[in-house]
Amino acid sequence: MPRAPAKPDPRALLRWYDRRRRDLPWRARPGETADPYAVWLSEIMLQQTTVEAAKPYFAAFLARWPNVAALAAAAPEEVMKAWAGLGYYARARKLHACAREIAARGAFPREEQELLALPGVGPYTAAAIASIAYDAPVVAVDGNVERVVARLFAVTRPAREAKRELRAKAQSLFPGRRAGDFTQALMDLGATVCTPRAPRCADCPFHGACQAARNGAAEAFPVKPPKAEKPERRGAAFVLLSDGAALIRTRPPRGLLGGMAEFPSSPFRADFDARQARVHAPAAAPWRELPGAVEHVFTHFSLRLTIFRATLPPPRPGIENCRWTELGRLSAEGLPTLMRKVATHAGLGLE
Ligand code: ADE
Repeated sequence: MPRAPAKPDPRALLRWYDRRRRDLPWRARPGETADPYAVWLSEIMLQQTTVEAAKPYFAAFLARWPNVAALAAAAPEEVMKAWAGLGYYARARKLHACAREIAARGAFPREEQELLALPGVGPYTAAAIASIAYDAPVVAVDGNVERVVARLFAVTRPAREAKRELRAKAQSLFPGRRAGDFTQALMDLGATVCTPRAPRCADCPFHGACQAARNGAAEAFPVKPPKAEKPERRGAAFVLLSDGAALIRTRPPRGLLGGMAEFPSSPFRADFDARQARVHAPAAAPWRELPGAVEHVFTHFSLRLTIFRATLPPPRPGIENCRWTELGRLSAEGLPTLMRKVATHAGLGLE
């Protein structure tokens, strides 16, 4: 009988954090009080940006605008310029609007619900500020924390569908004290140990209590949502050869593979009728259907092409909208990958 898993011990995580915490510029050191302005600024920057990319911007903002009143008094263009390179510029506009709102109030709000009402502050950021800056007893759940919790409890639904469950499970771990440290300990664990790939389970303070790791399956969590099946289309391509050349056509300028060279092909359709394929041939010829098919995946559909091949005796006939390209010069046509696959399937070498 397998032993029941040990319960995760949140105090073990806090002990781990005391030894292994990352030294980040917005973090209060042990014994210091967190600066709500620094916490808020960093959390907005970190919404869509990595810790490493955010660091120099955080330092520059703090040097130039050391408190929320200074940031509120800045010209909006200056704030946007200082943000340049961080991306997602709506964040900078909201950051400035938020600074003005806080400056007008005279202080940062402390309650999660009040924080939530501020521009640019969603549920995650409100929980992060409340716990890190004010030690409110909430656990902020970002992508890193979702992964840790999904593994710890082997949550079988994809994170996108299981947000509430993951948040409740994260909150259930809260040890009742050191809220800011606990939230950031989970974040650091996700960033440095419980990584998306090759997690270092042996170094994890929850080792032994992690249901995914016990089954040797940490990397299988969080479970990925099933990929939407791509619709399939079918069609036919015609490789016509004559006197050492192949028949090539340029596709219409718009639409799929617009303006690219092709072996004359049928339209690609979901309801393609294979029995009627030859009606799309560019010329009368002794067409032979080749065994197998060419498969190719486009962004919005996958394609299965039947290939027909024929050879005409010289002299090469002129064929409307088409040209003959010497086989040695086929690669200079710039054939798209799909058509290179067709060439290979038809036994033509492309240098
Ligand atoms: N990502 C978002 N907020 C963070 C924080 N306070 N510490 C580490 N990583 C984070």
